[in-house]
Amino acid sequence: MTDLNTLEADVLAQVAAASDLQALDAVRVAAVGKTGSISGLLKTLGAMSPEERKTQGAAINALRDKVADAIGQKKAALEAAELDARLASETLDLSLPAPYRRKGSVHPTMQTMDEMVAIFAEMGFAVAEGPDIEDDFHNFTALNFPEKHPAREMHDTFFFNPKESGERMLLRTHTSPVQVRTMVSQKPPIRIIAPGRTYRCDNDATHTPVFHQVEGLVIDKGIHMGHLKWTLETFLARFFETDAVTTQFRPHHFPFTEPSAEMDVQCDRSGGEIKIGQGTSWLEILGCGMVHPNVLRACGIDPDEYQGFAFGMGVDRLGMLKYGMPDLRDMWSSDVRWLSHYGFSAFAAPNPASGLS
Ligand code: DAH
Repeated sequence: MTDLNTLEADVLAQVAAASDLQALDAVRVAAVGKTGSISGLLKTLGAMSPEERKTQGAAINALRDKVADAIGQKKAALEAAELDARLASETLDLSLPAPYRRKGSVHPTMQTMDEMVAIFAEMGFAVAEGPDIEDDFHNFTALNFPEKHPAREMHDTFFFNPKESGERMLLRTHTSPVQVRTMVSQKPPIRIIAPGRTYRCDNDATHTPVFHQVEGLVIDKGIHMGHLKWTLETFLARFFETDAVTTQFRPHHFPFTEPSAEMDVQCDRSGGEIKIGQGTSWLEILGCGMVHPNVLRACGIDPDEYQGFAFGMGVDRLGMLKYGMPDLRDMWSSDVRWLSHYGFSAFAAPNPASGLS
């Protein structure tokens, strides 16, 4: 009996001393596990006399129950303590300031677009918008593209499947249809820019199937190429943040303007990078011209009374030039390293008064 009392005191002391669930389980295995001390005592019952077995059996079973009970209670206490410790260590103090982690940034194309809008807004231009999914009339016909003319093919147009009526909608190939929508819905004088997405089936280092343009349109009495030149030169000097730029018009053809021109800006390419406002090279930067009388007529404006100029430029290209990004395809790669390098803070909205970039 002394043995049992000693064993009980010993095991209960070990249970009490177990400081965590793992230690408690080790005590359990050592006492009541298959080869544990108490289990070992139970195995000795078979060799006892029936008398002895009666008393000893009852005593050993009582000991086993007592120990199991103590282990159960200790286990519950340890689990409760563990939960308390976790709750204490995992509390979240919502009043603390959030750790600074830069998660997103403004894409350079959007930043460039915002800068362009800010400059033209300061010059008195309103922003006009039109749908990305256009019809043939607004994208081509009203802009004086003759039916079946190869210029329509040159645009590498994404067409939708024909409707029941046979009409085929398309993804606008340029922002020029917004000119048409504006002239149809507003009376001159008109002074708008139309920033937006444009689409062409084209993909290499300098072309992506989706790109961005800013269109410009001015309609009033007595408008001429001089107004166009001043507007664009003033814009370019502001955009490239130089005192002045030198530009040249190169004769070109667009169906919707007559005369039409491409504008080049003087630049320096000597140091491996392009610097605007100096040097001996020319860089093609945009298309422009005087609005064709047929376009004015298609929009219900009398060309004998009103004239206008228009221009269109690629936002992604201008952004590449300004911020030194070499490959247009990177713009769409969603590489967070590229985005965090070239991206802009959402709080730095372009503003001609405080600075553009
Ligand atoms: N729509 C032309 C293009 O995407 C760009 C353009 C050229 C727009 C001349 C104009 C313009 O308004 O006058 O290639």
